Amino acid sequence: MKRFRPYRETQEIRDKYADVPRILPDDFIYPYFVVEGEGVKTEISSMKGVYRFSIDSLLIDLQDLLSLGINKALLFGVIAEDQKDERGSAGYRHDNIISRAVQAIKQRFPQFIVFTDVCLCEYTSHGHCGLLHHHDVENDATLPLLAEMAYQHAVAGADFVAPSAMMDGQVDAIRKRLQEENLHTKILAYSAKYASAFYGPFREAADSAPSFGDRKSYQMDFRTKEQGLDEIAADIEEGTDWIMVKPAMAYLDMLYRASQRFSDYPLVAYQVSGEYSMLKNGAAQGYFDEGRIFFESLTAIRRAGAKYIISYYAKEFVRNKYYEQDKV
Ligand code: PBG
Repeated sequence: MKRFRPYRETQEIRDKYADVPRILPDDFIYPYFVVEGEGVKTEISSMKGVYRFSIDSLLIDLQDLLSLGINKALLFGVIAEDQKDERGSAGYRHDNIISRAVQAIKQRFPQFIVFTDVCLCEYTSHGHCGLLHHHDVENDATLPLLAEMAYQHAVAGADFVAPSAMMDGQVDAIRKRLQEENLHTKILAYSAKYASAFYGPFREAADSAPSFGDRKSYQMDFRTKEQGLDEIAADIEEGTDWIMVKPAMAYLDMLYRASQRFSDYPLVAYQVSGEYSMLKNGAAQGYFDEGRIFFESLTAIRRAGAKYIISYYAKEFVRNKYYEQDKV
């Protein structure tokens, strides 16, 4: 008989054997939804504890984030319906909402690391991530628009641009554009991004649901296995700096495989809106303890090999010190 129970006898002994002992503030990237206006802070009904902020309110909230030791955020723009058009031009105008937010953040907190989401769906009237031709999303015609958006975010001072449109060649188009302009902004590619039902609550948060059809012709089919690694390899070849698997919890196998295969590249996992809402609501219903369920889920994501985690729960997790065993 091999005895395992001695590894588990006391908290101290368990701590000693833990491969992922804790999750630190530095491991998190916190997502923000940015809207026009002043003094706006509105809770998103599908995501309790997550808000849409106007730029001034965002700066106040960032102080809170920084005081928790979290120094990275990912920004999404949310605009009014009447600002949207077929080409998503509000997303790459010089004075687009994200560029203004980045400038404000960098002016106030120059050391803060800003990531920006680069995609058309938040800005197009039809809600698709690229240009439409009849009812098809056109890949190549979308690339210059994504490159333009990335360029606008980059000149505003973004540290990372994060293309999430799942258009082939998007990293290459962005990399070339940034190089031409002599910008050293890095790229975090949403490399293996699956067409997932777990994005449900986000589409309300960002008001970005497609008005017809779905995203299956550009986001990945979750029934594939090797293809996710091929997608990541292609993004690396095109010059991405960091890579991502998204969503996280139902894709731990892909995270693990990516971390093994591409160990030189910082791997990011996105614990998406549906994962957040599921755990949060389940805890609110009393089915499980909130701190413990998030601690377990986030630990699994790190154990699978993610270096950084984009999570809507980051603030609460750090604030309540849920990474300390005696707190959960
Ligand atoms: C934009 C984008 C989406 C998410 C991140 N960037 C939505 C989508 O692809 O439909 C989802 C994030 C989440 O669910 O938390 N393309």
